[in-house]
Amino acid sequence: MCGILGYVGLDNAVDVVHKGLEKLEYRGYDSVGIAYQQNMKVVIQKEKGRVIDLAPLLKNKNSNIAIGHTRWATHGEPNKLNAHPHCSNTNRFIIVHNGIIENYQKLKVEYLSGYDFISQTDTEIIVNLVELFSLTMSINEAIRKTMSLLEGSYACLILDKKNLNCIYFFKDKSPLLLGIGKNGITLSSDITGLVGYAEQYVALEDKTFGIAYANRFYFYDIIGLKLEPNIKSVQVSSSEIDKKTFTHYMLKEIHEQPLMIRSILQKYFIGDEVNIPLKLINKMRKCDKINIVACGTSMYAGMMAKYYFEKLCSIPTEVFCASELIYSTPLISKRPFFIFYSQSGETADVLAVMKKMKKQKFPMLCITNNTESSMGRLTDFCLDIYAGKEIAVASTKAYTAMIVVSSILARAVSGVRTNLKSNLKGVSLAMEKVLNNKEICLGIAKDIVNEKDVFYIGRGMDYWVCLEGALKLKEISYIHTEAFPSGELKHGPIALIHKDTPVIAIITQEGTNRITRSNLTETISRGAKGFVISSKGLSLPEDTFIIPNVAHYLSPLVSAIVIQLIAFYTALLKNNDIDKPKNLAKCVTVE
Ligand code: G6P
Repeated sequence: MCGILGYVGLDNAVDVVHKGLEKLEYRGYDSVGIAYQQNMKVVIQKEKGRVIDLAPLLKNKNSNIAIGHTRWATHGEPNKLNAHPHCSNTNRFIIVHNGIIENYQKLKVEYLSGYDFISQTDTEIIVNLVELFSLTMSINEAIRKTMSLLEGSYACLILDKKNLNCIYFFKDKSPLLLGIGKNGITLSSDITGLVGYAEQYVALEDKTFGIAYANRFYFYDIIGLKLEPNIKSVQVSSSEIDKKTFTHYMLKEIHEQPLMIRSILQKYFIGDEVNIPLKLINKMRKCDKINIVACGTSMYAGMMAKYYFEKLCSIPTEVFCASELIYSTPLISKRPFFIFYSQSGETADVLAVMKKMKKQKFPMLCITNNTESSMGRLTDFCLDIYAGKEIAVASTKAYTAMIVVSSILARAVSGVRTNLKSNLKGVSLAMEKVLNNKEICLGIAKDIVNEKDVFYIGRGMDYWVCLEGALKLKEISYIHTEAFPSGELKHGPIALIHKDTPVIAIITQEGTNRITRSNLTETISRGAKGFVISSKGLSLPEDTFIIPNVAHYLSPLVSAIVIQLIAFYTALLKNNDIDKPKNLAKCVTVE
């Protein structure tokens, strides 16, 4: 994880890097640091805490060049000492690093025995290796030699005190983009860090290194051959990353979902015809099994997708948790097709599986919010979910966007004409109605905020939304929350029910309506506080939140808004940092 940012050019580099780090904070936010040039010396400022905490130290500071880092601790606890940037022993080189060096202990013993290490990070190894090799080689060669020894993942920026006109950069596995602006060059872990300072950018390939000056840059591969950059234009605008009138990004992103659905329809339909590449459809039609690979919220969206591919296309589909699949490859069918779901397109566990399957030449599709990401660039086919930038760490709109795009894809692969487009328009309207009644979710939040445990129950699709509901609630409210298929309660979890334990049942499916209600009643008989989120046609007057009716296979898109709002309001009542919950990061680039 972690975010890195560098700038060299005519604008004030201190400002550019500080503002850029704020945009990258979703990648980690337990400590922060920046290095910049002042009177041909390098000044380093670090803090344990948020990017904003550096502001007083950077007031009125001006520089042509700076590098910065916002951290999600891997090696070494989050404190000022372990915060980046780190220096080499003679202080000649200064580095920021995103990633993990797996063989750092070995390298330390083999190459750096006389060196002092101040922090507990693996990063100091990199910068000292560069220093060591630079004693006998050019800096370019020293970096290439260092890269050839590193195992793991890295995106690094380095300043050389002897030449403060340029930034050295190199990467493998961790993302790094180089932005080209009128006034200078920006280097960033993602595209939002470039917004405002670059009109064009280059996404670096793995094992690339280069040098950026204010008005030019050079790329090389690991053996020193010059590379031709593939320059693209920056498509993200500053308005996309503006909180607008909302107090929190999460609330804004929850509210964006009705409109988002309409814009997805515009992208994937021409009239009533689905607009998905025929080549992809044909490839999927030929497969004998679809394997969905993802993590977290994206995996839960994948569960809905499984339902669509099986019901609409009759293709057996299995959902895999990426971190499990890496180390225990299941039996693979004769003609498999892989679909990778990832909001960021950078999640290390998912990327690792993708690379593994790519080696075996299995056909693959990535469904992502970031088509220019590492996954987007590696895959054969890529479908954009068009959710717009999602900034809150807890994912909301990307989840529903993935479900919507999956339903459209399944419709295309099935070749069967359905009312999907008008049904999805109905979902958009239903979501708006839920948002207009959001105070009901605040009421539920008030009832659960002081409890130790919360349980979500449901069956089938409703259970899959429960999984996402439990994840959302625990992520941002820190209340222990679990989801169970309602029928499983009596096989163990019901032992956890005591007086006033909140149990939230989601009931939107005709076939399971009655039985889930009975399961809820069983918990209420044992003291639980019951809440029911039900679809209109299946509701009882006393239900807690009666959501509008939509096509039954799309109802999770509507109940999703309810579970998102319950999580949001509960965290709000607890005064938690909703957009940046503790211990989490939005983009998990370590396995
Ligand atoms: C992290 C985030 C989750 C997200 C998961 C997968 O854990 O906090 O919100 O669902 O990563 O991320 P991806 O970008 O692959 O969808």
